[in-house]
Amino acid sequence: MDDWTTLGYLASAVLFILGLKRLSRPRTAVRGNQFGAAGMLIAVVVTLADNAILGFEWIVAGLILGAAVGAVLAVRVQMTAMPELVALFNGFGGGASVLVASASYIEAGDLATDSPRLSAAAALAALIGAVTFTGSLIAFGKLREALRWSGFPGMRIVSVTAAAATVVFAILMIADPANPLWLWLLVAVGAVLGVLVVSPIGGADMPVVIALLNSLSGMAAVAAGFVLDNSLLIIAGSLVGASGLILTQIMCVAMNRSLLAVMFSPAPSGAGGPSADDVYAGKVRSTSPDDVAMLLEAAERVAIVPGYGMAVAQAQHAVRDLSRRLTERGAEVVFGIHPVAGRMPGHMNVLLAEAEISYERLVEMDDINPTFEQTDVTIVIGANDVVNPVARTDSSSPIAGMPILDVDKSGVVVIIKRSLSPGFAGIPNPLFASDNSLMLFGDGREAVVGITKALQEI
Ligand code: TAP
Repeated sequence: MDDWTTLGYLASAVLFILGLKRLSRPRTAVRGNQFGAAGMLIAVVVTLADNAILGFEWIVAGLILGAAVGAVLAVRVQMTAMPELVALFNGFGGGASVLVASASYIEAGDLATDSPRLSAAAALAALIGAVTFTGSLIAFGKLREALRWSGFPGMRIVSVTAAAATVVFAILMIADPANPLWLWLLVAVGAVLGVLVVSPIGGADMPVVIALLNSLSGMAAVAAGFVLDNSLLIIAGSLVGASGLILTQIMCVAMNRSLLAVMFSPAPSGAGGPSADDVYAGKVRSTSPDDVAMLLEAAERVAIVPGYGMAVAQAQHAVRDLSRRLTERGAEVVFGIHPVAGRMPGHMNVLLAEAEISYERLVEMDDINPTFEQTDVTIVIGANDVVNPVARTDSSSPIAGMPILDVDKSGVVVIIKRSLSPGFAGIPNPLFASDNSLMLFGDGREAVVGITKALQEI
C-alpha cells in the first residue's frame, strides 16, 4: 500500500467518523450524510487505483449493474418500505463479506496454511456474513408481513447443534486450511443458523433484531477487512458494528427486554388472548372531523402521537398544518415519540422533520408520559402497538412489558385509523374501546385535513 493510498484511507476514515458524529443530531444529519458519502467515494477511488486485481471492464460492469439496481430501488421503494430495504442491505453486506473473504481465502491457498490469522478471519467473516445474510432475508420477509413462520418443535436443539457445528468447522478451517470443504460447510451451516435464530423472533422484538443484524453486517466486514488486510474496511466495519450494537441496546431498553431474552426466549405469540370481538363489541365510539374540531377548539394542551399509519398515509404535512392551526388558536401542541413507532429507528422523527416540525416539539416517551394527565386531547394518528395498554397488563401478550405512551391517561383520546385492524404485533387494542376514546375512521391524511378544515370553519 503506497503513501497515497494510506492518506486516502485516513481521509475516508476521518470523514466516516465526522459523518457519524453529525448524524446524531437532526440539524447536522444532512451534512453528516454528505461527509459519509464523500468518505465512501474516496475509499472506492483509492482502492480501485491501488489494487485493481480484476480488469477494469469487470469493475465498470459491476458499477453499472449496481448503480442501475440502486437507482431503480431509490425511485420505486416507498418510504414505508425503507425498513425492509435496510434489512436487505444488511443481508447483502453480510453476503458480500462471505464472498470477498471466501474468494481471498481460497486464492491464498497454501499461504493460508502458514497464517492461522488469515484462516481465523476468513472463518469469522464466512460465519457472521452467512448468518447475517439469511437472518436478514428472514427479517425482510417478516417486516413485509409475508413470512409468519416461527419455527418447529425442537428448533432450539437444532439451533444449538448448528451453532456447535459452526465452531467445529471454523476450527477445522484453521487446522486444515488447504481443504476448502470446511469453508463451504461453515457457510452452509451458518446460513441455516441465520434462518433458525431469526425465525422465532417476531412481534415487538423485530426492531432489536434489525439493529443487531445491522451490527453483525459491520462485524462481518471487519473480519473480511482482516482477510484482505484492508485497514479502511476494518475501520468502517467497526463503526457499523459498534453503532449497530449501541442501537441494539437502545432498542432493548425501549422494549424493556434484554438481548438474551430477545434471542433465546422470543416474546409470547399472544395466541389465546382475547379476540377482537371480546375487546370491541358494542364498546367502540366513532366520531367525525367536525366533532374532533369542536373538542380541539376547547383544548388548551394537545398531544399528537404518530405511528406507522402516519407513514402509510403520508400525513406528516397535514399533521403539521393542524398543529400550526392549533398553536395559532393558543393551544400548546406537543408530539409524543415512541422509540419503536413505525418500522425503523427514528421513523417518526424523520417524517416530522420532513414536514419541518420543530424538534423542540418532539417529546420522548419518558418525558411526555407524566404529562398525559394534564393533556386535554391526544390525537393518535396511525399508532396502535405503541399505545396499547395491554403491554402493561397482560404478561402473555407479544408486547408484554414494552413501555408504551400512556395516552389513555389524557382527557380525551382521538384515534385516527382506517378500521379496527391490529398493528404489527397482531393483537386487539382495548384503548379503542376505552370510555375516553373516540375512533375517527379513515385514511390518516384525509382525516387530519378534514379536522383542520373543520377547525377553520368554527
Ligand atoms: P402499528 O402497531 O403497526 O399500527 C399501525 C396502525 O396504522 C395500524 O393499526 C393501521 O390500522 C394504521 N394505518 C395503516 N395505514 C393507515 C392509514 N393510511 N391511515 C391511518 N391509519 C393507518 O404501529 P406503531 O404503533 O407505530 O407500532 C410499531 C410496531 O412496529 C411495534 O409493534 C414495533 O415493535 C414494530 N416494529 C418497529 C420497528 C421500529 S425500529 N420502529 C421495526 C420493526 C417492527 P388500519 O389498518 O386500521 O388503518
